[in-house]
Amino acid sequence: MAKVKVMEHPLIRHKIGILRNEETSSKEFRELIGEVAMLMCFEATRELKLVKKTIRTPICETEVEELAGKKLAVVPILRAGLGMVDGMLAMIPAAKVGHIGLYRDPETLKPVEYYCKLPADSSEREVYVVDPMLATGGSASAAITLLKEKGVKNIHFMCIIAAPEGVAVMEREHPDVDLYIGALDERLNDHGYIVPGLGDAGDRIFGTK
Ligand code: PRP
Ligand code: URA
Repeated sequence: MAKVKVMEHPLIRHKIGILRNEETSSKEFRELIGEVAMLMCFEATRELKLVKKTIRTPICETEVEELAGKKLAVVPILRAGLGMVDGMLAMIPAAKVGHIGLYRDPETLKPVEYYCKLPADSSEREVYVVDPMLATGGSASAAITLLKEKGVKNIHFMCIIAAPEGVAVMEREHPDVDLYIGALDERLNDHGYIVPGLGDAGDRIFGTK
């Protein structure tokens, strides 16, 4: 069973508190989503391998560490996942970016796929799927199934808010995928929204409601 890691860092908890506030503007919301993604990226990349190499400082020769060369990719689930991409790239600028377009049918709550474009060598990359919200888990699970069908093996999922229902779906359907969660909330309401949550992440990032 892969890891389920809920963030404990006070900066992340503080910023998620502001994201939840209905009075937070779209501008501030968008900035905070990026900042939380950047902070979570530290935790999600904690186990990347390092190799040693010898360099010269201006003073002497010494041994330093560098990333072992494993290639990375960030794959946002459109639309709301886009808000997390720049924060991730601020930490891992060499990562490639793929996109998976899914929206949740408001009646059935089932994900509907409308777009998929991935880096050509995705199957050789360590892939970080990002979406601020894990609610029923339908969208994240479908996105990861799609990645696996395309040969991707090393997959991690990052979200800012998760419901226990979504975590259970991911653990059942993708037990090999590590989950990095900003905050684990109480439950879903009758419309499939996370309680207390932060509302509709896509609408709040892009100001569409
Ligand atoms: C939101 C969110 C997730 C999905 C989570 O996207 O960004 O992708 O819902 O819900 P689930 O876990 O029940 O599938 P939405 O469908 O609202 O699309 P949008 O990002 O285009 O607004
Ligand atoms: N999608 C969102 O944007 N928010 C929720 O609470 C659930 C799904």
